[in-house]
Amino acid sequence: MKHEIVEKNVGLLSVLILVVISFGGLAEIVPLFFQDATTKPVKGLKPLNALQLEGRDIYIREGCFNCHSQMIRPFRAETERYGHYSVAGEFIYDHPFQWGSKRTGPDLARVGGRYSDDWHYAHMYNPRDVVPESNMPAYPWLNYATLDGSNTATKMSRLRMLGVPYTDEDIAGAADKVRGNTEMDALVAYLQQLGTVLQDR
Ligand code: HEC
Repeated sequence: MKHEIVEKNVGLLSVLILVVISFGGLAEIVPLFFQDATTKPVKGLKPLNALQLEGRDIYIREGCFNCHSQMIRPFRAETERYGHYSVAGEFIYDHPFQWGSKRTGPDLARVGGRYSDDWHYAHMYNPRDVVPESNMPAYPWLNYATLDGSNTATKMSRLRMLGVPYTDEDIAGAADKVRGNTEMDALVAYLQQLGTVLQDR
């Protein structure tokens, strides 16, 4: 019997198992490249402006993702706390995305607009000033580092190669938009837009 040949030959069996599994994988993964829900930006999604983009880089540099995810799962406990669950189309312009998985602090996917700018400045300067029980580190130096915007335009044109729709105007005006702001200004600008494209709270 042919089946017996397969069952008695470990090498052949392994190869055939791999073939079967990869078909299963392809059936799950390939459609994701062609579905509008995963490949098209959600309605109203705008690429980060120059200052927000610098803020995002500071978010990454400071390792905020080590304690904060940006991905609300579609469970009631999550949506009641954080708002609408995250959808793929919100992250189309994120290279790389900041979903994360570690939540020492709350998810930040929809933190935009939840607090005032002043709250964020105070919180980042020393979290204990506004949330006494907080164990988040303080980031006071962000107030003292001023950005010159010298490589913002380059970052934006590289992102454009990856499909982020920056216009020539956006890129030409980038340095002016960033120059003179502190790192804190940039980070707050970044935080204040997070998740605002899809909010139903
Ligand atoms: C060691 C873990 C840790 C790191 C690193 C960290 N945080 Fe936090 N963060 C927390 C915790 C815990 C809280 C909840 C208490 C509080 O509000 O301070 C929090 C709260 C927040 C909140 C308020 C969220 C809400 O919905 O109330 C924001 C905004 C925030 N963090 C931003 C940042 C940013 C930006 C960075 C990087 C510069 C950062 N955090 C780094 C632990 C961390």
